[in-house]
Amino acid sequence: MKIGCPKEIKPQEFRVGMTPNAAQEAVAHGHEVVIETNAGHGSGFEDADYIAAGAKILDTAEEVFATADMIVKVKEPQAVERKMLREGQLLFTYLHLAPDPEQTKDLLESGCTAIAYETVTDDRGGLPLLAPMSEVAGRLAPQVGAWTLQKANGGRGVLMGGVPGVGPARVVVIGGGVVGTHAAKIAAGMGAEVTVLDRSLPRLRYLDDVYGNQFRTGYSSAGLLEEHLSAADMIIGAVLIPGAEAPKLVRRDHFAGMKPGAVLVDVAIDQGGCFETSKATTHADPIYEVDGIMHYCVANMPGAVARTSTIALGNATMPFLLALADKGWKQACADDPHLLNGLNVHAGQLTYFAVGKALGIDVVSPNLVIK
Ligand SMILES: NC(=O)c1ccc[n+]([C@@H]2O[C@H](COP(=O)([O-])OP(=O)(O)OC[C@H]3O[C@@H](n4cnc5c(N)ncnc54)[C@H](O)[C@@H]3O)[C@@H](O)[C@H]2O)c1
Repeated sequence: MKIGCPKEIKPQEFRVGMTPNAAQEAVAHGHEVVIETNAGHGSGFEDADYIAAGAKILDTAEEVFATADMIVKVKEPQAVERKMLREGQLLFTYLHLAPDPEQTKDLLESGCTAIAYETVTDDRGGLPLLAPMSEVAGRLAPQVGAWTLQKANGGRGVLMGGVPGVGPARVVVIGGGVVGTHAAKIAAGMGAEVTVLDRSLPRLRYLDDVYGNQFRTGYSSAGLLEEHLSAADMIIGAVLIPGAEAPKLVRRDHFAGMKPGAVLVDVAIDQGGCFETSKATTHADPIYEVDGIMHYCVANMPGAVARTSTIALGNATMPFLLALADKGWKQACADDPHLLNGLNVHAGQLTYFAVGKALGIDVVSPNLVIK
């Protein structure tokens, strides 16, 4: 198969769909890999690295789209990229179609087959191609929160780990899923005193079993949250109710009872945010203040560490990418129901029920499409 990887063109996107290692594996499997020039530059991978891996460099995205049977990307195709997709071509990337009728219409019209990273599943009910970005955002949250806590950035001027004779920062993590667990681990590793609040007792049991001596756990009731807010230096929002907007767990009227200069890091901002005063910010201007409380609400946190994120995403996509290339998408999806769950669009038809429901478009069962 000819596999093509164009340079990402969405603003502030520095990741790339294929690492040189992924290209090398694909070439070793007998495939041809074409990469747009400079596609990996933002993640620290140069054209020479891809050439050494056996890939060919092309000058333009047009050439990559025209050459490849399968396009591998990170972000959803932008309007100009969607015009380059053609009938029978395979697209493997994040799509997030439910809130995006324009993209959905263009993909349907293109006649391509599109497999969305975010709906591929695994045996444990997880989302294996979303999890690496949650891991990155979770681990980054205490790091950016610690920076925001510094006095010059508007924070309380508290050091995460304290020093001998001075206590550490108190960090509360709301939501103990993938983001929350990684955030808590890093915050505890920096020496902070950490509590994770969640509503799932099985999850709290798991966290207590595995991390019992590193951080505390609490059941996320409004009363317990209020107790923690008054003592907290940093609150990390990491809740998710699948398919729904994040609940507003910290309200503006809570701020009066909090320490001035405390920091809110709202990782759940991509689902609307779990603090009432959250509004999405960018890496160029990540923080703002409301009533003396600092907010960090960057919606694409993994972009700050593009190299780590690219490699983490590449590790997760690699087995699926190779299966698609080795067997062709139909056989690969027939062999793996989790990959089939990623199928969103085929030959002008929508094949993912939640997207069809959100956009009011008829859906054809993916099982019928692969027959
Ligand atoms: N900003 C970014 O760059 C970025 C990057 C990755 C993920 N995210 C977002 O981070 C959020 C968390 O993602 P995740 O992968 O950890 O999800 P997850 O499903 O693994 O974890 C969510 C947790 O929230 C808990 N929860 C639900 N309601 C709660 C409540 N009222 N109080 C306390 N806990 C509650 C759930 O029980 C679950 O354990 C999502 O909104 C995700 O989209 C943002």
